[in-house]
Amino acid sequence: RILIIDFGSQVTQLIARRLRELNVYCEIHPFQKVDDAFLADFNPKAIVLSGGPASVFAEGAPLPPPAVFEIGVPVLGICYGQQAMMYMLGGTVERGHKTAEFGRAYVVPKNGKLDLLKGWFEGEREQVWMSHGDHVSEIAPGFEVYGTSPNAPFAITADVARHFYAVQFHPEVHHTPNGKTLYENFVEVAGCKRDWTMGHYRAEAIARIREQVGDKKVICGLSGGVDSSVAAVLIHEAIGEQLTCVFVDHGLLRLNEAEEVVTMFRDHYNMRLIHAEEQDLFLNALEGVSDPEVKRKTIGKLFIDVFQKHASEIDGAEFLAQGTLYPDVIESVSFSGGPSVTIKSHHNVGGLPEKMGLKLVEPLRELFKDEVRELGRELGLPDHFIGRHPFPGPGLAIRCPGEITREKLEILRQADAVFIDQIRKHGLYDAIWQAFVAILPVRTVGVMGDGRTYDYACALRAVTSVDGMTADYYPFGHEFLGETATRIINEVKGINRCTYDITSKPPGTIEWE
Ligand code: XMP
Repeated sequence: RILIIDFGSQVTQLIARRLRELNVYCEIHPFQKVDDAFLADFNPKAIVLSGGPASVFAEGAPLPPPAVFEIGVPVLGICYGQQAMMYMLGGTVERGHKTAEFGRAYVVPKNGKLDLLKGWFEGEREQVWMSHGDHVSEIAPGFEVYGTSPNAPFAITADVARHFYAVQFHPEVHHTPNGKTLYENFVEVAGCKRDWTMGHYRAEAIARIREQVGDKKVICGLSGGVDSSVAAVLIHEAIGEQLTCVFVDHGLLRLNEAEEVVTMFRDHYNMRLIHAEEQDLFLNALEGVSDPEVKRKTIGKLFIDVFQKHASEIDGAEFLAQGTLYPDVIESVSFSGGPSVTIKSHHNVGGLPEKMGLKLVEPLRELFKDEVRELGRELGLPDHFIGRHPFPGPGLAIRCPGEITREKLEILRQADAVFIDQIRKHGLYDAIWQAFVAILPVRTVGVMGDGRTYDYACALRAVTSVDGMTADYYPFGHEFLGETATRIINEVKGINRCTYDITSKPPGTIEWE
């Protein structure tokens, strides 16, 4: 496995993605954590030093321990990682304002062939993506230059004997089109086996779950989302009847959602599943509540109560399964560590395991989202489960600004189903990251046939995004929007006006509350 030492670059996760696409297992760890003992324990086959915002001149500049260069494995330094490497191995780095370079650049070869560059420079030059302020002005002893760009005379350097490679640009980003080849070569130099596939992962994960759980029982909160579904199916495959899933129905689910989940897991997968039908409990508690944070907190608290109530009925349960993913596990590199503002109180069950005295089973904690999907496919979950848009824990409550009533929820469910049906019919579902309808807390006047209507208005929301942190509205054509509005107004009793939300995030958020 490969160790990626993170110095805080925005794109460190992409390095891991590139390596895993090559079927090589790797982990990202923040530089603060990597010391000699950590290295000895991790026993990497190779090391990548990520980019980062710091300067090697800064006081307390983030640097890897010298052992990184002493344990005899290949090392690849990227951007800041390159500077750190040169600085530590005896080269010189200069502060550059004039030489700062951001964006597209072209690298040409120098000084003959390098194993890292097999398949590079078959044309005259390679496009790369630069993003650096400081630059290396003198390379370390033992290094040689293999590629240059107009602003980066040391764009690619290497100490061939020790297999140390340093590049000024980011080979992991999309804008370095041939970057994958570079990683492929690096992995080959490191002698990695490239056998990390989902089939392999499945077998390993099952063995690990069996070993961890033994003959004890496991509870799993199932939401019907991709992560908890894949976790449940995997654990069920490992321990069968020792697993019980709890599906909390808070009355804020989409049309037919509860039936789908129950049919799928109880009937198709034959799992023990508790369908906690607590609609009244939640909806009564939400009566008269219109403040978004109060809604979220009310739902979050009840959710935990309900889950706990049902879970405590399972005799002898010692473990709680969670679909935690790798991006939630990666400890971020923090230089300032200031508190950030709470925009929304997210729905989560953090703290529950301690409260209930349960240990955690998290079989997806090494995986990225697309790997979870691949594993889901491997486990035979149908595509419409795997490719599903994300759905928030508080459900339709946060798509119903103002007071939540059963009537509004029913209208919202119907409208949402029509919108999603339209998106699927037009083949747009997979191009959109998330789509839904929000029912607005206003009634407006309309005319239908010869009669006056006074009904709710709704807003359609569809966004593209990579991780939900930023998003842009989806550019539907007018025809699609017109057709969808007509369908919703004709088919959904209670709505007589339809709008399309064209706010990006930021400044908006994806959900309305
Ligand atoms: P916002 O509205 O903050 O949403 O732009 C970003 C993404 O997070 C989802 N979301 C939630 N997911 N619990 C969740 O599991 C929550 O409380 C929650 N609130 C928002 C939202 O659907 C979008 O995908």
